[in-house]
Amino acid sequence: FYRAAASPPSSNFLLLGPSGAGKTAFTTLLEAKSSPASKKSQLTHTSQASTLVSVSLPPTVPTASNRYRSVNDPSLKDASRNPIRYCLKDTPGHGKLRTSQGISELQSMSSSKDVKTKIRGLLFMVDTAALVDEACLRDAASYLHDVLLVLQKRSMGKGKSSTKREAEIPVLIAANKQDLFTSLPPGSVREKLEAEIDRIRKSKTKGLMDASMDTGLETEEDVLGDDDAQGVFTFKLLEQVGIKVDVVGGAVKGDPQEEFGSGVRRWEEWIGMCL
Ligand code: GTP
Ligand code: MG
Repeated sequence: FYRAAASPPSSNFLLLGPSGAGKTAFTTLLEAKSSPASKKSQLTHTSQASTLVSVSLPPTVPTASNRYRSVNDPSLKDASRNPIRYCLKDTPGHGKLRTSQGISELQSMSSSKDVKTKIRGLLFMVDTAALVDEACLRDAASYLHDVLLVLQKRSMGKGKSSTKREAEIPVLIAANKQDLFTSLPPGSVREKLEAEIDRIRKSKTKGLMDASMDTGLETEEDVLGDDDAQGVFTFKLLEQVGIKVDVVGGAVKGDPQEEFGSGVRRWEEWIGMCL
């Protein structure tokens, strides 16, 4: 049985995404990597509740605070004895559980003033082989749209009311299952999600305009990507409201020839840059 280090980690990451994306598989893999002694089952099943795990960053993964250190730096050797730990919250992706779990977790974690529960970054995982299917793409994009809207409302609300700007919450779209030959490469995952979110956004804008007739009130803040929804939606557009989105490919179930867990390395590097 594994026990966490003396001081509890206070860097929290939230893991969201549609059902079957590989969130629990990823969480389980990180746990196994963090404590090789534990013989955790790699089998997953549809999650119905959120779980919080404490894991460690591999000592070879740089963090934002130590990126300029040389590999010979003694403090890096120190890191392998006393690794940087963080918490990851795995949430169920089923459509019926999103509002009550993923979205509400995001709302409470992103508005938390407590450093212990504050959120450092958000990972949105997708199955890049499933996105070929129209229905799966629509499902993933609508969940992502709702998630990004929560972040946008948070950052736009901040500017008005408080003088102190809250730390931004970076978003990683973890393009999982790159091991499958039917998977879409990260670049096309980005394009497909952007195009689909654009569609959602346009139909929402139209709905809002119809509903409010010509009063034009309270429409803007409900539309993702700030001002006019005339242009095409891109994740880049969200940088104007302080939301940075990265799309990075990986695989939880990597090539058995490769080093254990190497398929998630680039996501761990992203996490490291948030620490
Ligand atoms: P919910 O709990 O329903 O939200 O789903 P989830 O995102 O937790 O998915 P889960 O981790 O249960 O994974 C779904 C299936 O995808 C499992 O059978 C995993 O073994 C499989 N899987 C996860 N990652 C990969 C991967 O990188 N490649 C392949 N080929 N399969 C994967
Ligand atoms: Mg799960």
